Amino acid sequence: VAAEIMDGSALSALRREQLGKRLAAAGNPPICLATVLVGDDGPSQRYVASKQRQAAQVGLLSQHVALPATASQAAVEAAVAELAGDPGVHGILVQLPLPAGLAPNPVIDLLPPEKDVDGLTAASLGRIVRGEPGLVPCTPRGVMLLLEHHGVPIAGQRAVVLGRSTLVGLPTALLLATKGTDATVTIAHSRTPDLQAVLREADIIVSAVGVARIVTADAVKPGAAVVDVGVSRTEAGIVGDVDFEAVREVAGWLTPMPGGTGPMTVACLLENAVEAARLQGVAGL
Ligand SMILES: NC(=O)c1ccc[n+]([C@@H]2O[C@H](COP(=O)([O-])OP(=O)(O)OC[C@H]3O[C@@H](n4cnc5c(N)ncnc54)[C@H](OP(=O)(O)O)[C@@H]3O)[C@@H](O)[C@H]2O)c1
Repeated sequence: VAAEIMDGSALSALRREQLGKRLAAAGNPPICLATVLVGDDGPSQRYVASKQRQAAQVGLLSQHVALPATASQAAVEAAVAELAGDPGVHGILVQLPLPAGLAPNPVIDLLPPEKDVDGLTAASLGRIVRGEPGLVPCTPRGVMLLLEHHGVPIAGQRAVVLGRSTLVGLPTALLLATKGTDATVTIAHSRTPDLQAVLREADIIVSAVGVARIVTADAVKPGAAVVDVGVSRTEAGIVGDVDFEAVREVAGWLTPMPGGTGPMTVACLLENAVEAARLQGVAGL
């Protein structure tokens, strides 16, 4: 039996529609999501444009700050600090990665936690570790929503998260292992020996590496849920970490790439922007 496909485009569209209705019911308060893009990386430009377009569709305002790839650390920090202090801006997204030579963490940590719609400040990540409420990183939250929406059992299951970045891998592992969700989690990475054997133990695999088809069918336990986060750009188009065609014959659930975790990331970003506005006292939310 072929795997159930976890369609992120469909779930994202549903959640964005619900968000739009919620904002309309609240009288469409002015909520502004600011994006900061440094440099002229093509995919980053397209991601930011798509996020702004979808923000507008649900009724959010957006503001965009574009800085050249040659911008200094101080210039990037000054731009972000200005948005951080602007009461008309409710959420701030700094598109990563920053161009080589710029340090992301000092920029990210200028964000007040209640405007940190990517959930990447030390404060936001610390809240996940402590199990406290706050804005959760968008891709990890999107992964969790896809698993929950498709009824994938998580409690008591063995999960392997492939990748240990603060953007995706580590927060995903924390969310899976958190009290109440209760997976038993292994974090694998480039220094993990015998990766295939580690993956074969998993009831749930979340792969966030960026190496095309690193998750092969023979490394997937029959019936496992497989979530593909990694993105590799090839001449044939975007390819995920998972060998989709072969793995769909083995897995119980599987995300497509594209059309899986990417659209969920955007839906969660918009939901975080509204949550940010609520945390800042915008009425009616
Ligand atoms: N779908 C979405 O919405 C979405 C959102 C964000 C990112 N992404 C994509 O997801 C991928 C991961 O993003 P990221 O920001 O987490 O990237 P990252 O910071 O580069 O992290 C990649 C992780 O993969 C591990 N890794 C690299 N090569 C490996 C190998 N051969 N075997 C096992 N592990 C290996 C690295 O291990 P070490 O720590 O040992 O170096 C690292 O932990 C990228 O392709 C990115 O484009 C997708």
